[in-house]
Amino acid sequence: MEHTETLRALGLFDARVPRYTSYPTAAAFSPDTGASFQRHALEQLDPSEPVSVYMHIPFCERLCWFCACHTQGTKTLGPVESYIEALEAELEMVRAIIPNGLKMGRLHWGGGTPTILPPELIHRLSESIRRVFPPAQEFEFSVEIDPTMVDRAKIEALASEGMNRASIGIQDFDPEVQKAIGRLQPFETTRACVEDLRSAGIASLNTDLVYGLPHQSLARIEDTIEKVLTFTPDRVALFGYAHVPWVSKRQKLIDEAALPDDLSRYHLATRAGELFVAAGLTAIGIDHFARPDDTLTASLEAGRLRRNFQGYTTDTCSTLIGLGASSISRFSEGYVQNAPATAAYQQRIATGVFPGARGYQLSPEDQLRARAIEELMCRFAVDLDDLSQEFGTDAQKLLPCLTEMATRFAPFARLTGKRIAIAPEGRPLTRMIASVFDQHVPEGVRYSRAS
Ligand SMILES: C[S@@+](CC[C@H](N)C(=O)[O-])C[C@H]1O[C@@H](n2cnc3c(N)ncnc32)[C@H](O)[C@@H]1O
Ligand code: SF4
Repeated sequence: MEHTETLRALGLFDARVPRYTSYPTAAAFSPDTGASFQRHALEQLDPSEPVSVYMHIPFCERLCWFCACHTQGTKTLGPVESYIEALEAELEMVRAIIPNGLKMGRLHWGGGTPTILPPELIHRLSESIRRVFPPAQEFEFSVEIDPTMVDRAKIEALASEGMNRASIGIQDFDPEVQKAIGRLQPFETTRACVEDLRSAGIASLNTDLVYGLPHQSLARIEDTIEKVLTFTPDRVALFGYAHVPWVSKRQKLIDEAALPDDLSRYHLATRAGELFVAAGLTAIGIDHFARPDDTLTASLEAGRLRRNFQGYTTDTCSTLIGLGASSISRFSEGYVQNAPATAAYQQRIATGVFPGARGYQLSPEDQLRARAIEELMCRFAVDLDDLSQEFGTDAQKLLPCLTEMATRFAPFARLTGKRIAIAPEGRPLTRMIASVFDQHVPEGVRYSRAS
């Protein structure tokens, strides 16, 4: 049987499974775990352990049709300014209860489009964050940048505030694909942004690409990748297009008849991966690539690679504090998501209520399963004896899952003793295989494709 037929027989092209940027996923969150859990978790933080901070800016000047992020369109700065005031009020609420001396090891601004902020708001927001969370000695500050919504002054403002990593959205350079996803982005504009970032001293550049977009073909993705490689990116994220119009209403503007079919998606992802590896990048997990001298590659090689809401990361902080509408915080006890709609978030802050609206408290068994899923997503292998070092004899509970994986996903999932490993040709099945550990697949929730 052809390789793709074997993958099809194993259900790859029919499966709808989470991307496992958390376990359980946000679909399992409930309103029972909200503001009071958030307050308590913040109060209990250990001041000797630096935290990661995520700041969400849910505004874009343009709204791309393909995008599934929490964001809204605005042509003026008015709504952005009042949102920044709410963020500052949230920061004040957090400052009042966290222990003294807590430091910030990582800061990430995501969106939406953080670079919608003009330089004066960039400085103001950065100062407000630093007042509450002084940076630790080793500090990384990364920002998501839309190359069509940034200029040199904004980049210099971000760099002067310590930005040392930038992530730029590209998706695809082909004009027909861009038209079909409602996102026009000339190559020259993107190149100018990259040059500005490099001349501002940004050492690390990530580019986001998406496969599975309408009208994408092998020739078009090859051309896009050739152009991307001229930027010598340090990292590349290659996401599979998640077509979820029941969640993201703007995706209804996408012509479904122009979407590549399952097999074409598979070939697009495979070809893109081959090109990045041929260009000297190392494959990281299921959808990232990094230069051999990048810290993500070093982290993979040292067995320290982690997976969080942004994808693969070198971040080992055990606490992530999410600020702003829809942001998710992760504490050792569980997750809590702020009210997703900007108006609801601002309303809560205005009345002095913590914005956590839904969440999930992790049981010891959830923590074990979360770690097992993360191991599989990062290293394509899980060894129960290794997990025993952290979770004791409880880790052995997962043996039936390993046996099920080896049976259902033969010949790609191989069990040796208490270790399951996914063969390189079986890696497209990783999310499906990981879902065997998942005890929270809720009824009626529709995820995006596994392939
Ligand atoms: C917040 S957005 C990008 C930042 C910036 N606003 C821009 O457009 O350049 C983060 C990334 O999520 C990815 N993304 C958004 N919607 C997606 C979808 N439906 N499927 C797969 N990836 C998606 C895109 O690669 C995008 O660059
Ligand atoms: S891709 Fe970026 S610019 Fe486009 S809608 Fe999404 S967040 Fe906004």
